[in-house]
Amino acid sequence: MNRRSFHRYGTILLGNVVALTLTVPGVGYLLDPLRRKSKQGESQRLAKLSELTVGKPEAFAVIDERQDAWVKYPREPVGSVWLVRQPEGMKPEVVAFAAECPHLGCAVNLDAEGKSFLCPCHTSRFDFAGKPENSVPPRGMDTLDVEVTSGDDPEVRVRFQRFRTQEKEKTPLA
Ligand code: FES
Repeated sequence: MNRRSFHRYGTILLGNVVALTLTVPGVGYLLDPLRRKSKQGESQRLAKLSELTVGKPEAFAVIDERQDAWVKYPREPVGSVWLVRQPEGMKPEVVAFAAECPHLGCAVNLDAEGKSFLCPCHTSRFDFAGKPENSVPPRGMDTLDVEVTSGDDPEVRVRFQRFRTQEKEKTPLA
């Protein structure tokens, strides 16, 4: 190989190394959102156990980061949850319900007397165990996984999820 060829091949090789160095992180960046682990499945603290009164439902907003394929949004409300503290000695100590109505997804609230859950859209009504009190909803309110931490001032942590509406079975949305 003469000196001119050596320079030519050297330049091509160097160019390829530079191109590869620039390309690999770029491809990594583009694929990153597809590789990134979903935040679904993580539980978050919603209340202290001491803030809840036995038998009295309390609503809490779920604040989380929202992320689509390439954009990460700031933390904001993504849903809400009803927590119902159970009488002493019962397990679980707290029951959590998704506030989305299983009928068509409106927000479930309390009725005017505070005696039942009521969805204002088409009057689905549920007792505080989440059981339907009329035939409007296809199933009871959707329960969520709850963890009550140990210690002097236990926290109530909930794994927030969404479920398909209009179905008899409780099926999580992907
Ligand atoms: Fe709740 Fe229809 S969405 S009753």
